[in-house]
Amino acid sequence: MSPSAQGDDDRRAERVADDFHRIYGGSPDGVWAAPGRVNLIGEHTDYNDGFALPIALPQTTLVAARARVDGRLRLHSAQGDGRITELPVAALAPGATTGWARYPAGVVWALAEAGHPVGGADLHFDSTVPTGAGLSSSAALECAVAVAYDELYGLRLPGPALARIAQRAENAFAGVPCGIMDQMASVCCTAEAALHLDARTPQHHRQVPFDLRGQGLGLLVIDTRVAHDLGDGAYAALRAGCERAAALLGLPALRDLPAGELPQALRDLPEALAPLVRHVVTENARVEEAVSRLRAGDAAALGPILTAGHASLRDDYRISCPETDLAVSAALGAGALGARMTGGGFGGSVIALLEAGREGEVGASVTAAFDAAGHRPPRLFAVAPAAGARRMHPRTPSTPAPAPARSAPFPRRTQ
Ligand code: GLA
Repeated sequence: MSPSAQGDDDRRAERVADDFHRIYGGSPDGVWAAPGRVNLIGEHTDYNDGFALPIALPQTTLVAARARVDGRLRLHSAQGDGRITELPVAALAPGATTGWARYPAGVVWALAEAGHPVGGADLHFDSTVPTGAGLSSSAALECAVAVAYDELYGLRLPGPALARIAQRAENAFAGVPCGIMDQMASVCCTAEAALHLDARTPQHHRQVPFDLRGQGLGLLVIDTRVAHDLGDGAYAALRAGCERAAALLGLPALRDLPAGELPQALRDLPEALAPLVRHVVTENARVEEAVSRLRAGDAAALGPILTAGHASLRDDYRISCPETDLAVSAALGAGALGARMTGGGFGGSVIALLEAGREGEVGASVTAAFDAAGHRPPRLFAVAPAAGARRMHPRTPSTPAPAPARSAPFPRRTQ
């Protein structure tokens, strides 16, 4: 990160600490940040025990946090309606709250449910991660709480364990049956690298150097502003289709289908399931190809891999929409090296890999194409691989973490 971007982040964290003071009185114990993500390649593979290659965004959710000894959880967001949501930690259960508060409350619930000795806290959030854009704003919220609680309550959990807690919050508390990619990206990504995730063993993730600028490249995010919502059942139906296909093939997960056996599997499977399987198997191969190109120092070679990934999401997984298809074709028409829809699908954002300095030109072409088609103008921003979740303010804790609560309000999970 450049010194000026670092300075901006530090000032933002100080502002959030000041806001905390105005909202709750007194100082927070610290301010933590967790980023949104874009996935370079490897879409809808995580819940099939497969591979993905996300990067963290410079856009983050900040949380100013202070532990409480009375077991109460208070939540406030600069992007909310100004009210403070207050909940007793011991009474947290799925359904206890609604809206954005489900994500942070879900993380505290998931920590307690897993047997970690956590209590209450005052939390104030401020986020620059766009919501509904397929950029994992909910994972950023969850992971900010996970890293803050980890420190506030002296848990010392490894990153993948925090990501698992955040995923559990989203699955069981917020009711979205997502995989683990977004939370792993938010917690475990590092600057100037992509995260090579094997969703079967997230603890063995690897950092793959991705020096965009050094290779004369840029990455443009095109938010189509078609809101994507994973809670509406379509995502769950896709996941269920994949699980059914794996069961029919006698496999633990689609990740276990070797590419060489794909043609036979496609002949054996019901017509509705075959294209899902083709997407997952070819997408896993695209991740491995992308990783080997990056490791060989040829990031530009990602271009055609991204574009092939989009075709697979459009034609086999069938989760693109006219706006995302148009963003991809307009970006390619303006000279992008590759482009694809990123994230859960049904709208959201497209990423375009391009030569550095061409962001403005490609963005203008996409905007003109949207205008001509009668779509709202997309939101555009250039990104580079940023750091995962971290403490922001003060940089080192000035006060020792409070003693953990004496007993966990829930029994330890056995599964
Ligand atoms: C959403 C989910 C992830 C993943 C992607 C698709 O972002 O939260 O777990 O399944 O969709 O790759």
